[in-house]
Amino acid sequence: MTQQSTTRQEAPASIGIALLGAGVVGGGVAHSIGAHAAEYERRIGRRLELRQILVRNPEKVRGTSVDPGIVTTDFDQILSDPKIQIVVEVMGGEEPAYRYLCQTLESRRYAVTANKEVMAKHGPELLSLARRNGVDILFEASVGGGIPLIAPLKRDLIANEITSLRAIVNGTTNYILTRMSSEGIDFADALEQAQALGYAEADPTNDVEGIDAAYKLCILASLAFRTAVFPADVYHEGITRLRANDFRYARELGYAIKLLAIGRRLAGGSVEVRVHPVLLREDEPLSKVDGVFNAVELEGDLTGLVLFQGQGAGSFPTSSAVLADVIDIAREIGLGQSGRAMEPYSASQQIRPFEELESRHYLRLRVPDRAGVLSKICGVLGDQYGISISDIIQKETSQEDQSTEIVIMTHAAREASMRAALMELEQLPVVNEIGNFIRVETPR
Ligand SMILES: NC(=O)c1ccc[n+]([C@@H]2O[C@H](COP(=O)([O-])OP(=O)(O)OC[C@H]3O[C@@H](n4cnc5c(N)ncnc54)[C@H](OP(=O)(O)O)[C@@H]3O)[C@@H](O)[C@H]2O)c1
Repeated sequence: MTQQSTTRQEAPASIGIALLGAGVVGGGVAHSIGAHAAEYERRIGRRLELRQILVRNPEKVRGTSVDPGIVTTDFDQILSDPKIQIVVEVMGGEEPAYRYLCQTLESRRYAVTANKEVMAKHGPELLSLARRNGVDILFEASVGGGIPLIAPLKRDLIANEITSLRAIVNGTTNYILTRMSSEGIDFADALEQAQALGYAEADPTNDVEGIDAAYKLCILASLAFRTAVFPADVYHEGITRLRANDFRYARELGYAIKLLAIGRRLAGGSVEVRVHPVLLREDEPLSKVDGVFNAVELEGDLTGLVLFQGQGAGSFPTSSAVLADVIDIAREIGLGQSGRAMEPYSASQQIRPFEELESRHYLRLRVPDRAGVLSKICGVLGDQYGISISDIIQKETSQEDQSTEIVIMTHAAREASMRAALMELEQLPVVNEIGNFIRVETPR
């Protein structure tokens, strides 16, 4: 990570800030700038002056931290204020946030963003734009809310070769999985509870389909493996197929079920990046991260395993990360320095196709309760696709239709073989239903 040469400039008495968005995060940022004004001034040596706040609806009633006198709906008004030096984007979504960030950097202002979608899709381009204009864009709050992750990856772990990253980075899905596990309820009921408590949005697609976690993985993996990773590179699968029985059976086998974002540096210089539910051994630290908490486990060649854990969302935890970036930039401005933007990574390393993944699998099948069924299933898995079985466990039997549920644990098999085998199993007359299949995560 090289740094551009710094230049000394005359430092102003206060640092002008514009906030794009005054919602959950923006409200928290505005509150803290007001509540901790004197303390921040002591730390920075300059006063932080919130000069304009951009919103969509100026009529909305907001907390006392948001001064209605500085609310605007016109971004050009922010660009035309020469006293604004830092633009803090906490509005979310790709557009117009991306366009406003480009305009901010082109006007040689610093940018701070909490926007994982924009950073995942356009991070390298925005970093280049910042460098070209002698400013910076910081994005600590884009992953893991209040947990310090971006700065440690950029600085404290810089001497390491990061070989692996495994993360729980979506609090909504982790909350849902925790409820499914602890209460024995199905996905739909747990989602309803999460929505009632405000942990899941009315349209939860981005969270429950693993899209949000994939954006965050792009950002973490780009920094950890020093190669540009974009959303199209990340295989992602959500949690909607999971059922209460999966949690029960997994527990009996000594596993928890978690939605993990996984990145690994592979021999030969490629990397793998994927988001999907996994069976995770119960003695692994990540399997004990419950509720809305997030955690990121990194393995460096010098540090060994490092675990970051904390509140991955929420007004104050997230504004802590946003304000850390603001204070960092304000100090640099105070010192008369500029142009520290990190060098953007190019797509220097290959992304391994997901079909080449090798992993163990858990399969839950409903089959007729009669002799000869297992030999046919084993024939497809073993003889046709070379997938060897480590355990077969018979579970619930239904007297109603004389069927039984079985769980099969396989040894490591290629993703492509497993998918082909599942398609074949689906056609077998001795298979009533493939209830689920979940990859088993094994530490390397
Ligand atoms: N919430 C969290 O815990 C959390 C955690 C980590 C990162 N983040 C990220 O932080 C960002 C903000 O999240 P949030 O939860 O604070 O969102 P939010 O509560 O929905 O607030 C969004 C704010 O942006 C304004 N806004 C949206 N679109 C706009 C537009 N086109 N023009 C002008 N203003 C616009 C809204 O204005 P109105 O108020 O007028 O509608 C609102 O004030 C997102 O990128 C999110 O991913 C959030």
